[in-house]
Formats: sequence, C-alpha cells, structure tokens
Amino acid sequence: MTVHSQLMQLGLFDARVPRYTSYPTAPHFSGAIGPADFAGWIRSIPVNTEISLYLHVPFCRRLCWFCACRTQGTVSDDPVRAYAKVLKAEIDLLRTHLAPGIRLAKLHWGGGTPTMLAPDLIRELAAQIFDVVPMADGGTFSVEIDPMEIDAPRLDALVAAGMNRASIGVQDFDPQIQAAIGREQPYETTLAVVEMIRARGVTSLNADILYGLPHQTPTRIADSVQKLLALSPDRVALYGYAHVPWMSRRQQLIPTDALPTPEERLELFEIARQLFLADGYAEIGIDHFAKPSDSMAQAAKAGKLRRNFQGYTDDVSPILIGLGASSISRFPQGYAQNAPATAAHTKAIRAGQFSTERGHAFTDEDTLRGRLIEALMCDFHINRAEILRDFPVTPERLDALLTTAARAFPQMLVLDATGLSIPESSRPLTRMVARMFDAYDQSKAKHSAAV
Ligand SMILES: C[S@@+](CC[C@H](N)C(=O)[O-])C[C@H]1O[C@@H](n2cnc3c(N)ncnc32)[C@H](O)[C@@H]1O
Ligand code: SF4
Repeated sequence: MTVHSQLMQLGLFDARVPRYTSYPTAPHFSGAIGPADFAGWIRSIPVNTEISLYLHVPFCRRLCWFCACRTQGTVSDDPVRAYAKVLKAEIDLLRTHLAPGIRLAKLHWGGGTPTMLAPDLIRELAAQIFDVVPMADGGTFSVEIDPMEIDAPRLDALVAAGMNRASIGVQDFDPQIQAAIGREQPYETTLAVVEMIRARGVTSLNADILYGLPHQTPTRIADSVQKLLALSPDRVALYGYAHVPWMSRRQQLIPTDALPTPEERLELFEIARQLFLADGYAEIGIDHFAKPSDSMAQAAKAGKLRRNFQGYTDDVSPILIGLGASSISRFPQGYAQNAPATAAHTKAIRAGQFSTERGHAFTDEDTLRGRLIEALMCDFHINRAEILRDFPVTPERLDALLTTAARAFPQMLVLDATGLSIPESSRPLTRMVARMFDAYDQSKAKHSAAV
C-alpha cells in the first residue's frame, strides 16, 4: 500500500487527527484539576529553577476568516487595557507562590494578537514579569506579531522590554487567496515590518505560512514561498490549513469548493518543502524549517527538539506557566488550563484566585506514552535504549507497543534493534503513527482495524 493510499484510509486528511502539542491532548483534560492543584504545583517548583512562561492575549483588531485560534475581535483598546490589568494581578498572584531564585529561560507572548497591547502596557507587563521572574542568561523573549497590527512605538517598546525573537503571521502573499481567507496583508507591509524588526536589532525572525488554502495552486504557493525566502526568515512554520468550521464559525466564510483536495494538499506541501530545502533550510519535525545556524535546527540535530503548546521548541524546561485566559501550564506533575472565557478568567483573578478550570495529573503511563509520541513527532524515531533507560517499562512491554504500531502500517515503518523509525517516504503518516501510542484516542482503533 502506498503512503498516499494509507493516508486516505487512515484519515490524515481529517483535521481531527491531533497535532500532539501535548499528551494527553487538551480535549482529554478534565475538571479534576483546579486552582489549588495549580497553586500547589507552582509552590513545588524548586528554588533556582529555570522555567518558561507563556502570556496569552486573546484579542485581535480583525478576525481573519481562516483562523482557528480562540480570540475576540475589538476595535476599541478598552477591553485590552482591562485585560492587561487582570494579567498584572495574575502576575502578582504568581509572585506569592514562587520560590526564590527562579529564572526565565523562555518568555513567549502569543494570542490572538499580543501587539494589540499599547506601548505603555507592553512596558508595564514586561517589567512586572521580569520583576517576579528575572530573565536567565541567554533567555529568549519571543512575540507573535501581526504585520497589520504593529507600528514603530509598539516595536520600540517590545525591543526595549527585551524581545529578541519575533514571529510574524504571513499565511500567503497571494491577494486572491488573502481575500478568500479574510486576511488582507500587502507584501509591502510585511516587508516593511520585517525591516523595522531587523533595524531594531532583533536577529531571530520566524514566519508562519499555510498550505491547503482556498485557490492555492502549485504556482501560487511556489511564488509565496519565493517571496518569503526573499525575507530570509530564520525559521518557518509551514502549517496545513485546518478547516474546522464546527469549532471556528468564521471559517464558514471560506469558500470550501476552492479548497485543494487531499492529494493537492500533499503536493502543495511538497513544493514548499523542496523550495525551503533547496534554499539551505533544515527540515524540523513535520512542519518547520530553519536555517542550520538557528537554535531549533541545532536542537533537532542534537536530538533535543521538544514539543509544547507552541509547537516545536528547543526549550527543555519541564515547567511552562501559562498566564491569561485559556493558557495551559505544564509541570512534571501534569497540565493545568486557565478558564478559556476572558470573563471567567477575570472573575477568578479579581477574587484573588487562579482561574484553573481543567487539567490532567500525569500517571507513569502518561509520561511514557507522551515521550513516545514526542519522539516520533520530533525525531521520527523512538530510541528503544533511551526509553528503557528513562522509564519504568519492561523490554517486553515496550517491544509489544512498538510492534503493534509497526504492524498497523505494513512496510511503512522500520522496526529494528534501535527502535521504531518513520522513514522519510512515510513522514506524512507521522501524526497517525503517533496516535497509535495515544491511550485516550479511541478513534485510532477504528483506523488501525481498517488497514
Ligand atoms: C495565534 S495565530 C497569531 C498570529 C498573529 N495574530 C497574526 O495574525 O499574525 C498563530 C498562527 O496560527 C496559525 N493558524 C491559525 N489558524 C489556523 C488554521 N485554521 N489552520 C492552520 N494554522 C492556523 C497561523 O499560521 C497563525 O499565524
Ligand atoms: S490570524 Fe492572528 S489576527 Fe487573524 S484572527 Fe487569528 S490571531 Fe487574530
């Protein structure tokens, strides 16, 4: 059976196959984890640890039709100001639980659109965060920037606050595609923003682009990728457009008859991929490319690539604290998610409590399976010796898990003494193979039975 027919049969083209930015995935979190667990997990962080912090801003000036992110549109700055006040109270609350000497390895502001924050709010929030958790030597501060929602004063404030990595949303440069996805963004604007970012000394630039968009053709995606390469980003996220109108209602505005077929999606990805490789970029995991000098490319080469809620990362810290509505935190003990609705989050913080609504406490089985999935998503390889060294699993049990996965994908995977590998030709299957190790996802049984 070819990779393509397996993909068709197994449902990779089904947008519901998890991207495994966590294990278990967020739909499997439960209400068993609340504010007291979250506070306890924060208090258990040892003194002098390096942690990571994610700050979520769930507002956008415009609501792009294609976007599946949970965010609110607002023309006025008032809700953003009110929200920033809540964030400040949340940072103060965090301060009361943290042990001394904790430092920040990575700070990331995402959304939504964090550049909705006015310069004074950027300054105040960053200053308060660093007052509570100072930046570690070599720490990084990255921010998601919508090129249509940024100007010199806000960039100046971000750079003065210490931003040393920028991530811009591009999606596609083609005007007809931009019109079809409700996101107009002239190439000249993106170029000008890139120049403004670099002129301020920010040397690390990431760009997000999408394949599988309406009206996208091989010629058009090649043209967009060439334009992007002219901007010389250090990293690129090449995401497959996820059409999930049942989750994101504004996607109902997307002309479904103009969406590429599953076969065309694969071709679009491959065209973009070849262009990045030809330009010297290293392929990272299932959907990233980076210049070989970039820290993510180096982490991938050294087998130190990891997966977290932002996708791929070179962050090895086991602790990520999420601030703001809907943010998810990760601890060695488990996951904790803040209230997704801004109103509920605000209410809890104003009452002096964390807003944790859901989460998951890890069992030994979760951490084993989570690592097996992460290894496949990051390295396309499960290293048998490493797993036996790091986890309380017998060789017989591990071999049984690996064999079951290999048998579900006849002739597509390599199982040998070193472990289980996904060869390059089978990489489009990666999420499906990872799903074989997901004990919570019942739908995989249906698919493996169909092979
Ligand atoms: C949370 S958004 C923030 C970007 C920022 N607000 C901007 O507009 O540039 C981060 C990225 O998620 C990706 N994204 C959003 N909706 C998506 C979808 N339906 N399918 C795939 N990727 C999506 C986009 O590539 C986007 O740049
Ligand atoms: S792509 Fe960015 S600006 Fe557009 S709706 Fe999503 S988060 Fe907001």
